[in-house]
Amino acid sequence: MSTFRDDGAAALDWVASYLEGVRERPVLSQVEPGEIRAALPASPPDGPEPFSAVLRDLDDVLMPGITHWQGPRFFAYFATTASEPGVLAEILIAGLNQVGILWRTSPALQELEEVTLDWLAQLLGLPSGLHGHIEDTASTSTLVALAVARAASPGRRVVVCSEHAHSSVDKAAKLLELDLRKVPGDEQFRLRPDLLDLDGACAVVATIGTTSSTSVDPVPAIADRCEAEGVWLHVDAAYAGAAAVCPELRDRFAGWGRADSIVVNPHKWLGVPMDCSTLWTSRADAFRDAFSLVPEYLRVTEEVASLSEHTQVLGRRFRALKLWAVLRCYGRSGLQERIREHLRLAALFEEWVRADDAWEVVAPRPFSVVCFRLRGSDEDNEALLERVNATGEVFISHTTLAGRYVLRLAVGSFRTTEDDVRLAWDVLRREAEALRA
Ligand SMILES: Cc1ncc(COP(=O)(O)O)c(C=O)c1O
Repeated sequence: MSTFRDDGAAALDWVASYLEGVRERPVLSQVEPGEIRAALPASPPDGPEPFSAVLRDLDDVLMPGITHWQGPRFFAYFATTASEPGVLAEILIAGLNQVGILWRTSPALQELEEVTLDWLAQLLGLPSGLHGHIEDTASTSTLVALAVARAASPGRRVVVCSEHAHSSVDKAAKLLELDLRKVPGDEQFRLRPDLLDLDGACAVVATIGTTSSTSVDPVPAIADRCEAEGVWLHVDAAYAGAAAVCPELRDRFAGWGRADSIVVNPHKWLGVPMDCSTLWTSRADAFRDAFSLVPEYLRVTEEVASLSEHTQVLGRRFRALKLWAVLRCYGRSGLQERIREHLRLAALFEEWVRADDAWEVVAPRPFSVVCFRLRGSDEDNEALLERVNATGEVFISHTTLAGRYVLRLAVGSFRTTEDDVRLAWDVLRREAEALRA
């Protein structure tokens, strides 16, 4: 009979070997839809199986269906990293299985969450005194913030954002039965404040680091208007917020400290394993007004507001533990080093694209994402992307900007080296030549 310690050692060994060898695997899973399901039994086991059977089937059945987000040549969407301290912390989190419904059900969970959110706010240069808590994703953070904004402005039923805002804003507006007013972007994909119409608005969502091009909305001008007209300002810095750890990049974050709420995803660019989305507010009372509802069975005698009074969900995971582990094991300098390296690598790639007449860069690059395309038709670029991703050597994604099909190379993995970025460029050029042959 194997023991928990044996199985645990085997599982940790599995993860260590996986991370050591991940660069050798095809980045984008090459299976067909339904292939993994077909390889799995249709019914659950009748009796207990050993944990080793789970590990065996992970290798034999599931691994072909894994797209390697942990791989160094994952350049699609926003590349992420579950760093080693974060992975280890996940084991501790599961082992402790804290269910943070009330302060008393885990004082350490709540107080560590408060402290780590305060630490991270300091690291990012945010104003002191913000109230912070952790949500699962930026989609939830934005939904929660907009629910508060709606409650804070009865009768106002419009959310305003740029045409380049993330689809989570559209979804939140739909769920909250708010009308969405989209403001056109300028030629650099930034919200045009001269076109901002706040009539009937309860909130504006400004984005620092839009999903397609990482453009930065003019937050100071938007904040001026929001303050003048009493409209809630939510800043979505889900991807880019991590970059504020570098003081030399703070110009991109001008005005974000004036927001009523701000979301940053440490699970995107700060080495914390999925999921961890941090949400700060200068209007903690408005959050409590919108969400505090304490039934008799949760009433307590201590005078401490639980984090569940600031959001929609009751129970919370001990996510703060993994954020804490990452902040401690990298420190300010370790995180700065990685963000700076990613910007260096993105700049290098951008330089190579610019230097080759067959290609063009199609958007400014405030952070670590390069938007580019092969000079040619949208169809050529789409076919190129398919070919590149089918190689399994790299994984790159696309978007449209100004009506054109655009390729994006997102540097964001702590494991990516200059050689990996060079390989991406080699694969792109090789496949472009093959396409044209
Ligand atoms: C700017 C922006 N906001 C929000 C989101 C949604 O993030 P999540 O997957 O955490 O909901 C994304 C995802 O990429 C994003 O780029």
